[in-house]
Formats: sequence, structure tokens, C-alpha cells
Amino acid sequence: MLICECYGVSEHQVRRAIQNGAQSLQQVRKACRAGSGCGGCTLKLKALLRESRDEDTQASGLPSLQESATALS
Ligand code: FES
Repeated sequence: MLICECYGVSEHQVRRAIQNGAQSLQQVRKACRAGSGCGGCTLKLKALLRESRDEDTQASGLPSLQESATALS
């Protein structure tokens, strides 16, 4: 699926950039140019970054932010 129409960047390319260490929009832009044009794909990029962070949290065995907030309430 195409994520960034301005630069023809696919979801796969964005995921690969994140796997290779991109942790912010700026780093994703630098890695694959997605988000460097009109900005129309920014929300999709943020969702992929968030999804990656959530997967990292689950893989680490640490509770997610939502789980922590629920435990404290
Ligand atoms: S669609 Fe990604 S910068 Fe325009």
C-alpha cells in the first residue's frame, strides 16, 4: 500500500525505515522521504510509528501506557 503519494513511498518502505532505527517523523523523512512533501501522509506515518512503539512495549514485557494508567486508577 502506498503511504506517501508525493514520493511514492510504500508502507513496507516506511516499516523498514522504522525497523532500521527511525523513531520520529523527522527520522522517517530522512530515511525514505515519506512526509517531506505536502504532509498529507503525516497521520499515517504517526500511526505506523505508534504501532511500532506499541509492539516494542509488548515485546519487552513492560506494560503499555494505557495498562499503567489503568493500574493506577
Ligand atoms: S503524501 Fe506524503 S508528503 Fe505528500
